[in-house]
Amino acid sequence: MSVLNSRIPKFYKKSIEERLNIVKEYTELSSEECNLLLKFGNLDPKIADAMIENVVGGMSYPFAIAVNFKINYKDYLVPMVIEESSVVAAASNAAKVMRRDGGIHSHATDSIMIGQIQLVNVRNPFYAKHLILEYREELLKIANEQDPILVNLGGGAKDIEVRVVDSRIGPMVVTHLIVDVKDAMGANAVNTMVEALGPVIEDLTRGKVYLRIISNLADKRLVRSYVKVYKEDIGSEEVVDGVVAASAFAEADPYRAATHNKGIMNGVIAVALATGQDHRALEAGAHAYAARFGRYTSLSRWEKDGDGNLIGTLEMPMAVGIIGGAVKVHPIAKIALKILGVKTAKELAEIMGAVGLAQNFAALRALATEGIQKGHMKLHARNIAIMAGAEGELIDMIANRMIEEGRIRFDRAKELLEEYIKSRDLSI
Ligand code: MEV
Repeated sequence: MSVLNSRIPKFYKKSIEERLNIVKEYTELSSEECNLLLKFGNLDPKIADAMIENVVGGMSYPFAIAVNFKINYKDYLVPMVIEESSVVAAASNAAKVMRRDGGIHSHATDSIMIGQIQLVNVRNPFYAKHLILEYREELLKIANEQDPILVNLGGGAKDIEVRVVDSRIGPMVVTHLIVDVKDAMGANAVNTMVEALGPVIEDLTRGKVYLRIISNLADKRLVRSYVKVYKEDIGSEEVVDGVVAASAFAEADPYRAATHNKGIMNGVIAVALATGQDHRALEAGAHAYAARFGRYTSLSRWEKDGDGNLIGTLEMPMAVGIIGGAVKVHPIAKIALKILGVKTAKELAEIMGAVGLAQNFAALRALATEGIQKGHMKLHARNIAIMAGAEGELIDMIANRMIEEGRIRFDRAKELLEEYIKSRDLSI
């Protein structure tokens, strides 16, 4: 192992193996570990190497299917990729009690994204705003010239909005380009358009344009999902009251809202990963939207109707695409979309809103009743048993013993495994 010098010129130009050898030289990685890194699983190394820079290997996550989902009267098998145990089981369980009356109802708006252009150094910002708005038609025309394919599909730049934003370095004139990106997530289309408009706005206003970039606060591209959960399907009205109280807690307290929304994102991001979405954009959009009134709050609401049943609603941005980006290059993302059978980005957004709502319900129901540790512990104990080498029926036997004893540890799993194997040998 040599002394690390992280200044490695032309690292990006080397092959995957060459890069990994350099890493090996500087670290304590063994040959077995390097070989493991070089297992790209279902992603062709050439594709991986073209997707991002400085690739030295691959990392696989489990790909699972959440069952029982009925959304807008239609059944779906929902692919989920996630590292956290219990999420897929929780989603499937929640979806099971959400199948009546057509299931979860979900509606996404059109795929409208916002691109921002930041203009500074203008003496009269309100006059600049006026000028930009007066030039609206020309600006839209220039924007649309950047993406004739999108325009042919009925999408493209549709409107211009201008805001004067006060900042600590003075007022800024912020132009919003409103673009219908149709079935794409839209970052590429929007960024190309706003970059093209930058110099035009500078010429027009004699100011200085700096940033030209999409906004992830996609508040014109929302999904709204709602569901009725019948009290008898979830035990009793007490459970309903518990979920309503949990919801009120998240509405009122940002500390709780962050965790409440994390539960929603467990579902949303798992589908996003499976289908190759920009999940950071979704996270950013969700949390910014949750804070849009100046105080962070929950994205969903749970109320009780006149018959004592639970009504859940969720509203959040959902900027997802079924063309372009990783969706185009990752073969598993394509398979995930095929499993879902979605034909439009709008339909995918509707599914993801529904999954977020179901995931949220699962968490609140568990939290308001037995707590989440019981379910988590079971899975955790099973994982530990598997890691210790247990197979078949021994997995559950060892997991259950460790739970009973309150000692869910690797060393205990090993001991139990040996015990069981010995007693089995003796009984043969
Ligand atoms: C854990 O991944 C998610 C929860 O914390 C969500 C919640 O608290 O609502 C269980």
